[in-house]
Amino acid sequence: MRFLNILEYPDLKLRIKAKPLSPDETLESIPLIKDLAYTMYKADGVGLAATQVGVNKRIIVIDISRKTVKDKVFSLEEENILNANKDLIVAINPQIIFKEGNIVYEEGCLSIPKFNADIERANEIKVRALDLSGKEVIIEAQGLLGVVFQHEIDHLDGILFIDKASPLKRSLYNASLKKSKVKKREKDVSYTF
Ligand code: NI
Repeated sequence: MRFLNILEYPDLKLRIKAKPLSPDETLESIPLIKDLAYTMYKADGVGLAATQVGVNKRIIVIDISRKTVKDKVFSLEEENILNANKDLIVAINPQIIFKEGNIVYEEGCLSIPKFNADIERANEIKVRALDLSGKEVIIEAQGLLGVVFQHEIDHLDGILFIDKASPLKRSLYNASLKKSKVKKREKDVSYTF
């Protein structure tokens, strides 16, 4: 399996709305889905959307357990990664069909390093998706799992959680990005000379 390059904000590829897969494409995408799961575990994330690795397909992987796999996954046989982790959720073409209540959770994102913010989302959701075999499934999620689903489905629509953070936090982060770019340039210059 390959560790895929995770795009970082403000990369415009993160803003592309991903396309749904047909049931046939679901099977064809299994190598990609293995790479997505592998990349999520290796990056120590609890969720990853195909959009984040520059793939324009509606696929997300989630594992909020953070315990069972972290140490084991890298010794697993390639063909086992999707079956061996019982906490791993693969959702293809996920769609939220029910939302209730509110929850505020401090979120982070592999595509937005060193940025965390409290985001309000629905507390309980139902998601309709295709599983690995292309079969339709309904997944009920609440609390953190529901939050991660909503965060990852947003990625597929080109939406980032920083868009939902307070304007002040957002502008401070944007300013810090600019600053680090300037610093890097100065450094490059000093090396050139
Ligand atoms: Ni994210």
